[in-house]
Amino acid sequence: MRKPTLIVCATAIIASLLVAARVVGAVSDAAPAAPSGSKDTMTPEQRADSTPQGKLKNPYKDTDAAVVQAGNQLFMSYACSGCHGGTGGGGMCPPLTNDIWVYGGDDDTLFRLVTYGSQVLQSKGYSRIGQENVVAPMPPMGTIVKTDDDLWKIITFIRANYHGSPQCKFGCSGG
Ligand code: HEC
Repeated sequence: MRKPTLIVCATAIIASLLVAARVVGAVSDAAPAAPSGSKDTMTPEQRADSTPQGKLKNPYKDTDAAVVQAGNQLFMSYACSGCHGGTGGGGMCPPLTNDIWVYGGDDDTLFRLVTYGSQVLQSKGYSRIGQENVVAPMPPMGTIVKTDDDLWKIITFIRANYHGSPQCKFGCSGG
């Protein structure tokens, strides 16, 4: 059963990269003005590169409905939903809502996975510890998601949609 699913996921990969390219085009056409948010804002890639491994921490809580809502919109607009489904439940690619975490479920690992994509992440010493029913590469989204703040909001939305066992919400390896 794995092969057909993989092909569908790969097709989704191509489709959503096209959508993402359009998102990037639209963003850069629209806004030459400097972002008005905190001066600490960086791109996800700058943030990940400049923070020691294991030290990235989500500043938001998934009990904050406004942040979850904003994260939901970003998840759709950056086309994460094209692969993972509208609520992260899987769609054509692995679900984000269950207790299987491919590389680990902690904030730091998820931030780096989305930023670098699964291939670069592995080149940085991370390895696959969990197995979803679909195995395909996660594309690097760190140059597509505009800011680290956007990415934390998306991760907050993912946390709010988690439906696995409570002790595995941030990864099960710790027990
Ligand atoms: C082109 C399809 C595609 C897009 C677009 C995509 N992903 Fe993924 N994502 C994947 C695949 C495939 C994996 C599994 C990677 C692996 O097995 O190495 C994955 C894995 C993940 C995981 C880890 C899931 C787990 O169970 O450990 C998270 C979190 C995630 N993606 C979030 C995102 C976010 C956030 C976005 C948008 C910014 C996004 N993805 C966009 C395909 C995609």
